[in-house]
Amino acid sequence: GMDSLFPALLGYLIGSIPFGLLLTKAAGMGDVRKIGSGNIGATNVLRTGNKGLAAATLLLDLAKGLAPVVIAGQIWGEVAMAFAAGAAVLGHCFPVWLGFKGGKGVATNAGVSFGLAWPVGLAYAFVWLSILAIFRISSLAGMAAVVAAAAAAPLFGYPQFFPVLAAIALLIVYLHRSNITRLMKGEEPRVGGSKG
Ligand code: G3P
Repeated sequence: GMDSLFPALLGYLIGSIPFGLLLTKAAGMGDVRKIGSGNIGATNVLRTGNKGLAAATLLLDLAKGLAPVVIAGQIWGEVAMAFAAGAAVLGHCFPVWLGFKGGKGVATNAGVSFGLAWPVGLAYAFVWLSILAIFRISSLAGMAAVVAAAAAAPLFGYPQFFPVLAAIALLIVYLHRSNITRLMKGEEPRVGGSKG
């Protein structure tokens, strides 16, 4: 119905804007998909050496998760928020503009989590930043955060958002399978490290 189709379209359209690719191209840095992990997210933009562009990618990818969820909540309600949330992450991970080859969803899901319920967003940010500070491995921090957000939803009183956050968490962990292989071999680069 109205409270699922429109928010899903809105979420997908906003979520599918590939900010990491657009910003690095606009800055004349070439195609970020040809360096590092090949990903279009902030972690890989950081591997260009440009911290400002990486920070901008992180914030814009976060904002494009937050915005459709907040808008859907204002217009339609909680069912629409969940549809906008899932669609925004799907848009980031499978953008039609890039032949459905997009990012891994960690920053976008941070914005989604804040938009669905701020305590869930705080749990996300806390786990993400803590694991990043301890291990300095972006993929590990991201995967821990998305799982934590799904677990936090029912724990913090938002069980209605558990299904979409759990589905997103499964998708994001799946999209990190090459990172998981590198993690198990001890070859995953650290943020700010010589190979990171
Ligand atoms: O959000 C993506 C991050 O978790 C991993 O990025 O470039 O190290 O595969 P990357």
